[in-house]
Amino acid sequence: MLPFKTLIKLDRTARSPLYIQIASTIIRQITAGIIPVGFKLPGGRKLAKLLGVSRRTVMLAYEELEAQGWIDIKPNQGTFIHTNIPTIQKQSLPIGVLDEAHQESHFGLNKELDFLAYYQPPNLKAIQYVFDTGYPDVRLAPLKELSQNMGGVLMSKRDKKIMNYAANFNGHIQLRQEIVKYLGESRGINISMENLIITRGSLMAFSNIFRVLLAPQDKVIVGDISFKVAKDIIQIAGGKLITVPVDEQGMDVEEIEKACKKQQIRAVFVMPHHHHPTTVSLTAARRMKLLHLAEKYQFAIVEDDYDYDFHYASSPILPMASSDRLGSVIYVGSLSKIVAPGLRLGFIVAPVDFINDLSRLSRFLDCHGNTAMEKAIALLFKEGLIRRHLKKSLKIYRQRRDLFCALLQKELGPFVQFTIPEGGLAVWVLFDAKIPLKKLRASCYKKGVLISKSIFQDKEGQSLNAIRMGFASLNEKELIAGVELLKKAVLALLREEF
Ligand SMILES: Cc1ncc(COP(=O)(O)O)c(C=O)c1O
Repeated sequence: MLPFKTLIKLDRTARSPLYIQIASTIIRQITAGIIPVGFKLPGGRKLAKLLGVSRRTVMLAYEELEAQGWIDIKPNQGTFIHTNIPTIQKQSLPIGVLDEAHQESHFGLNKELDFLAYYQPPNLKAIQYVFDTGYPDVRLAPLKELSQNMGGVLMSKRDKKIMNYAANFNGHIQLRQEIVKYLGESRGINISMENLIITRGSLMAFSNIFRVLLAPQDKVIVGDISFKVAKDIIQIAGGKLITVPVDEQGMDVEEIEKACKKQQIRAVFVMPHHHHPTTVSLTAARRMKLLHLAEKYQFAIVEDDYDYDFHYASSPILPMASSDRLGSVIYVGSLSKIVAPGLRLGFIVAPVDFINDLSRLSRFLDCHGNTAMEKAIALLFKEGLIRRHLKKSLKIYRQRRDLFCALLQKELGPFVQFTIPEGGLAVWVLFDAKIPLKKLRASCYKKGVLISKSIFQDKEGQSLNAIRMGFASLNEKELIAGVELLKKAVLALLREEF
């Protein structure tokens, strides 16, 4: 007899019913080889007594297991684990430990991807405060309303086809309509639905854009320094990076023109608001010049306007896409900062022929995305909740930016240099050379604070002692406590050094 009392642990506070917990635990034990095939399970009354549940609960669990084909209930004989379950293998290793056969592929890897760094997710178990690279506070997002909309969409009698394959690959029609409206109202981009395609966030937008746009070795201009993920995406798509300096007015457009005179440029990747990482905005004059250059040298401008809505100093400068007369701009936006990154929702605005090419590609990637979620978000726009949420969060993030910058100045003034950003959700902070960021990161980690890795380099390839520090995802109390610990980590490091 197996020790069922210890094998099946029930959580009476969990949402899932007890009979489902019993059934799923038994399935796990079967697939792990702990309950062998052909094994006779205890009778309903006996198991009920062992687990402290009613016999009916056990019988419901057995019925569930029988319906799924895991067990055989034989009248007058008992309940047996099916003998023909093909997936069973005795598992000798603990969960999460790989055996040798699963360490290395036998078929070899694509060496072309060697340039990509492995992303090691940090262990967040001991972390209390995360200074991310500029994330929103998802606790503020209208998730209750979203879940109500989602429930309504899934149960809707009128929308019975919502969970089926969709007929178009550009995204749910209502969400596209709402985004078209929102882009017109908020930033003067006047387009029709045919100019817009929904993606799973900006990153998928970039991947698809460069895959469709580039031939091998096509040249793409990026800022030096610039958003590393986008640079990697361009290279994965076969593009060759050309860099131009970025100063306090954004990318240097004179340098872009010089590059165009020397060689054929296929695209310029630009973050006009709150350049990643340094947070500067491209001035209106440079935007106009860049548009003019795109027309003259026939390159595409890939305009990543990922946090347009969060500009505090004044009204944001209108995107280049709003003044594009000839179809030079491919505009990318995202709902990651507006609502939450976990939604994975972004969009691309471009000339119709380019959207059609993206649509053809999308079909083979994720077909049409998460139609039900897109509809639920469309309803949030329609109900005015997104606009209300934006207003509210803009005010809160402005206060958090001001508080964070004041704390940085007060607590760490002698050790840091930064400019108060006009917008966005992060500050670009340069640390004194006496505080090497690698060591500071380790010291912070011990105190329960996570800061990002310093991944940017200067022209000579030297690591910059600077990082982006997000302020928006921490509330006032958390910012104060986080900066206090950061200061302690800095002071501890300095004591160690001397
Ligand atoms: C420069 C830049 N572009 C775009 C994004 C948004 O990415 P996504 O929409 O895929 O969440 C980010 C996220 O931090 C970013 O820093």
